[in-house]
Amino acid sequence: MKRREFLAGALALGACSPVPSSRAQESVSSEGLAAHARRSGRYFGAAIKSRQLREDPDFTAAIARECDMVVQEYELKRGTTEPKPGKYDFSGADQIIAFAQKHRMKARGHALVWYAAQPPWLGPALKLANSGGREKLMTSYIDVAMPRYAGKISEWDVVNEAIEPNDGRANGMRANSMWMQALGEDYIDIAFHHARQTDPRATLFLTDFGLEHDSPRCERRRTAMLKLLDRLMARKVPVDAVGIQGHLKPYKEKFNQDLFARFLDDLRGYGLALSVTEFDIADKGGPPNPGKRDNEVAAVAKAFLDVALDNRAMRSILCWGLSDRYSWLSNFPDYKWADGQLSRGLPLDGQMRRKPLWDAIAAAFDAARPIGRSRA
Ligand code: G3I
Repeated sequence: MKRREFLAGALALGACSPVPSSRAQESVSSEGLAAHARRSGRYFGAAIKSRQLREDPDFTAAIARECDMVVQEYELKRGTTEPKPGKYDFSGADQIIAFAQKHRMKARGHALVWYAAQPPWLGPALKLANSGGREKLMTSYIDVAMPRYAGKISEWDVVNEAIEPNDGRANGMRANSMWMQALGEDYIDIAFHHARQTDPRATLFLTDFGLEHDSPRCERRRTAMLKLLDRLMARKVPVDAVGIQGHLKPYKEKFNQDLFARFLDDLRGYGLALSVTEFDIADKGGPPNPGKRDNEVAAVAKAFLDVALDNRAMRSILCWGLSDRYSWLSNFPDYKWADGQLSRGLPLDGQMRRKPLWDAIAAAFDAARPIGRSRA
């Protein structure tokens, strides 16, 4: 595959293979993206909220048609599930997992140990505890969440977003993390070993963002991730896979296929499985004309996914949402449109219609060399 560079802003549209329109093929196949993924031995999925399943039948039908994998957008985060010490509310996650079971979908668990979205009581409790108590405060959530979904959640984001070079550490680790402050970098070792003991069948992920673009920001993050993996592998920490979140921002940073391909090869070199776990595209800064913007978004998505799916360790692609109707991008200060229009960074528009981005994802799966489909 000849690889190219996409310049931030004026995307080099001519530099990529045209994305066939699904609308021309609508009569041929209303197959969802999961069918395209399955033919390449992979999975396609999306992040969802239980409220969407309860209240939006059109969206729910689209998830059932397009996905064979789901992940909770926020309802397995400890701030939602353990609002008071030892008092749990898994009702949202239970509904999502019941939906996945009903539709014979795989499910991810997001996230066991993260610096964010923690309940307010946890930080103070960590400060008061001794070393053993601090470890228990972290692993107690693993002890409750993993067994609850054993056999239903096949892979977990055990540690999410451990990297943050802007925090000033030489090794690029996230210093402003309650876990790093409570236990040092060993929090990662403890979390993965505990998760392995708790559910030996689960695939254990280390996930992070800002690993995708050709920019100083992302280069620092990739370097920190590779150095972290060197240390974790040397300490025989049971990391099975790396999740590349895949939140692209093509109107702010360049994308270079060769550079990203080399990084994925480096990750595969550790013997790790790979997944894109939160794929979406921030279109703020793109052309005001939605149609033109859609085509540019599709072009960079195809360029990104062609590289991702060219790596035989890449097992699945999940979007962070399926429809622009519910994208976090439309509400996040850095990415939302000042005029209130929806971000158009997901495969379906606000009316559940397929967009060129849908075509790009389907075409990337269709062009990918098939791999043996993982059962786990
Ligand atoms: O549903 C409750 C509602 O009942 C309550 O009234 C309201 C006010 O407190 O909160 C609502 O929950 C919000 C939830 O989104 C559902 O909308 C939480 O406050 C809010 O913090 C949560 O934000 C999520 C955020 O992670 C923090 O957990 C976003 O939906 C979610 O898209 C975002 O996802 C993150 C990934 O986990 C990690 N990678 C980056 C990604 C985007 O930031």
